Order: sequence, then C-alpha cells, then structure tokens
Amino acid sequence: MAENIMNYETVTLNEEKATLDIIDQTQLPNHVEILSLADIKDIWDAIYLLKVRGAPAIGVAAAIGLYVVAKDIDADSYDAFYAEFKKAKDYLASARPTAVNLFWALDRMENVVLMNKDKAVSDLKQLLHDEAIAIKEEDIWVCRSIGEYGLSLIKDGDGILTHCNAGQLATAKYGTALAPIHLGVEKGYKFKVFTDETRPLLQGARLSAFELYSHGIDTTVICDNMASQVMKNGWVQAVFVGCDRVAANGDACNKIGTSGVAILAKYYGIPFYVCAPTSTIDMETKQGEDIPIEERPAKEVTDMWYTKRMAPEGVNVYNPAFDFADNELITAIITEYGIARPPYKQSLKEIFERKANAHK
Ligand code: MRU
Repeated sequence: MAENIMNYETVTLNEEKATLDIIDQTQLPNHVEILSLADIKDIWDAIYLLKVRGAPAIGVAAAIGLYVVAKDIDADSYDAFYAEFKKAKDYLASARPTAVNLFWALDRMENVVLMNKDKAVSDLKQLLHDEAIAIKEEDIWVCRSIGEYGLSLIKDGDGILTHCNAGQLATAKYGTALAPIHLGVEKGYKFKVFTDETRPLLQGARLSAFELYSHGIDTTVICDNMASQVMKNGWVQAVFVGCDRVAANGDACNKIGTSGVAILAKYYGIPFYVCAPTSTIDMETKQGEDIPIEERPAKEVTDMWYTKRMAPEGVNVYNPAFDFADNELITAIITEYGIARPPYKQSLKEIFERKANAHK
C-alpha cells in the first residue's frame, strides 16, 4: 500500500481554481484521483454517484459546491441573486434523500443569504465562502471530539467491527465511527478491525479497508454474512457505525445492513455504538419509520463489479440504500457534545442543550 489516504483531503475548496475538489471515491482503492468541480450538474452527479459520499462529506461538499456556483451568479440586485441561489440550492438538495447533513448544510448556506438582505451581492458571495469554510472546519473539530469520546469506550487490543465507511473518506477529517480508531493509533493502540464489505456498493471493502490499512491498522475484510461468525468467535469487543440520520427517539438510519449488525451485536452481548455529529441528528423526525430511505438502481445489485450479470434478466430487485437500527439495539450514541445513552428522547435533548450552552 503506497499511499496513506489520511494525507489527502476528502473534500475541499480549491481557492486558486475556485472549484470543489474531491477524491473520486468510485475509483478507490485502485486510483487516488482528485476531481475539480465547478459545474452544478457535475456537483450533483458527484453526490448522486457517490464520488463524494458519507453524510458529513456530502454536507461539506454541498456547501462548498453551492458557494462555487453562487460566486458566478451574475445579478445586480438581492432578489435576482437570491432567485438564482435558491434554484441552485434546491437542485443540489435533490441529489440524495436520506443523509440529513445535505439539507442541514444547504440550509445554513441559505440562512446566510436570508439574514443579509441589506448586503451587496459581492459581500453575500464572501459570506457564503466563509460559511462553507466554517462548515468544513467545524466538521474536523466535531469528528475529533467524537473520536475522543469513542476512544474512552474501548481499550488497546480490542476487536472492532464496522459497517460501510464512516471514516475520513466520509467526513472532512478522521471520520465518525473510525475516528476512535485513528485517534487510538496516534496513541500507539493496536486495534483489530473487521470491515463488512457492505453490499452492494462495497464501501467497507473498497473504502474502510483502504483507509484503515493505508493508515497501518490491522484490518480484515469480511463479507456481510460473516459478521455473526466473527462475533461468535469472540473477536469483536465493540461495533462502531456512522449514521445518515438519527431520529428524536434514537432510531439510527445508516447504510443498508446496519440493523442486521445491531441485532447480531445484541444477541452476542457486544456494545453497539452509533457515532453521530449533531448535524446528523434530526429532532424534527420522530422515529426511524419517518426517515426517507433512498432506493437505488437495480444494476448496483445485479451487474456492478461482475464481469457479467449475476441475476436472471427481468427478475425483481429491491435495492434500499439504508435501514435503521431500533433505538433499543443501540448501546450509546456518540456525539461531539458527549455520549447519549437510553432513553434517547431525553439524552439527545440534553446533547442539544449542551450544544446551545457551548455557543452562548
Ligand atoms: O451511501 P453512502 O456511502 O453515502 O452511505 C454512507 C453511510 O451509510 C455512512 O455510514 C454514514 O453516512 C455516516 S458517514 C460518517
């Protein structure tokens, strides 16, 4: 493994070229290719096609992408600027439905415009630039904080199982579910990490395994249906996963297969931790059933990665990209403002109170 992926920026604003720069995650692990995007359709495609993916990274990319597009809006009045800006915002918001960070970040950008109606268009553009940078910088702090809280729950030598990729590749830095592992390595801890390959798009095999292994971490890839065996062997002391949206009752929506891992962990008595920036917690959504679940093209199941189709032509295919773990399966939800434990309706409220106090 030549390259340590930790040395790359997953998503950034290229100030010189005024572009949104991302690692093209569809090329990993075979090529590390940086894409520079300025066209709104290319930015939308990059999110929809998972060139940039993972809830926090999608939010940061959308914010930077919206700035890149907004700075080229040719308008001589606030109203004309806002009309074009809103069109661009709504278009980017339609790229994927589940990760709430996408809407959270775009709303933050829109608020900047709405709160500064008296400003000149050139000043609005500067404020949008600053907000996009702030969203990215905050994500780095948030992930580091989640990593520190997560690390307090495990010890040197532990076996950890993860699903999908909630690592540096899914955020501005460190990741959420993989942050405790990356921070532990900085302290000289030696974890043994099992990454579910994560059918159908293989974020575990292609991305988590690449990210961890390139950072010198003991990493073992397993097919999704091997998790039970690995747990039964006594090789897993904790499960860490990320999430795309946590409902107010603590139900946590994440990559398809997460609920199955949570059920297994409960059966084997292994703690199941969900790592969630507060930007991923949606107090407006009451429960998991209310979270919109993205369905993706059938070909991702039947054709992708195979040299020829691996299911009969014409057969029905169901391809939901996410599911949710019931709150009762979740040992704790780790946020940047502390660790929430059941009952989540209460503890998540307290997390937001802590956040509000920190910003007073
Ligand atoms: O479809 P993806 O690859 O965007 O799904 C990503 C996940 O499910 C992640 O676990 C989640 O977004 C958290 S990333 C810190």
